[in-house]
Amino acid sequence: MGKNIAKTTHNFLFCDGGSCQKAGAENVVRTVRAYLRNNGLWDSTHTIKTRCNGRCEDAPTWIVQPNNYWYKELTPSKGLEIIKSHIHNNKPVEKHLLYCDDWDNISSEKEIPPYKLKPFNIIEDATLGSCYLTRGFASDQYTYPLFLYLFEHSPSSKIVLGDAKELSFSAIKEVLYSKQYVLELVLEHETIELVIAPINQKDTALVKARIAVVEYFHQITSQKKGIRFKNKFGDQIGLIWLSESAWKYCTEVQLQGLSIDKELV
Ligand code: FES
Repeated sequence: MGKNIAKTTHNFLFCDGGSCQKAGAENVVRTVRAYLRNNGLWDSTHTIKTRCNGRCEDAPTWIVQPNNYWYKELTPSKGLEIIKSHIHNNKPVEKHLLYCDDWDNISSEKEIPPYKLKPFNIIEDATLGSCYLTRGFASDQYTYPLFLYLFEHSPSSKIVLGDAKELSFSAIKEVLYSKQYVLELVLEHETIELVIAPINQKDTALVKARIAVVEYFHQITSQKKGIRFKNKFGDQIGLIWLSESAWKYCTEVQLQGLSIDKELV
């Protein structure tokens, strides 16, 4: 039988993402869970392991509920201090806090500045000719929303994959991302698969198929705009020709407001 959540007073959400694991999260979790078990607190509290909490620089991290207390750089002894304080005194341990709802800012000595995309450059490309070009983000947290947006809002944008002929987004019936690393573009009689997430680097076929580079371009002569996908070896996987509205979405969302510098135009 599952835990009766209605009877619990505190939830401890332990980050179990890669950075927190490397920083010793499991040791902290085991220590805290053992304390809860041995002190009759197992049924009145709830512990949950989560994926990355988005604060890897402060690993290992936790979130304590209620009241949204975020903790950083945990060790087994800090973990025990924190749960005892919350459970027995109903108080956070301020010196270990990363953030709580009353604060305007987080408290981290390890803040990493956000990654900035490079500006558009003019290049002479063997396939695209003269164009303004920059690289966007290639993780599935960007590529899945990109394909979903084009499917939902830009039926006139067109995709070309390998030697296949141009396909309009209006011909796509569904965009699915339910498999581990494969995005599916479902057509009437076939499904196109694109590899968009981390894969086993020893599998050469998968590495060649994986979208590892996403380039946004604006051709100078034709004024056409689009996206080019490449694998990590620089081989082209596909191209998308974008409608004007889709280009606007790409610059605003995918490129985080980056536009072509007026001095280049
Ligand atoms: S892995 Fe824990 S915050 Fe990212």
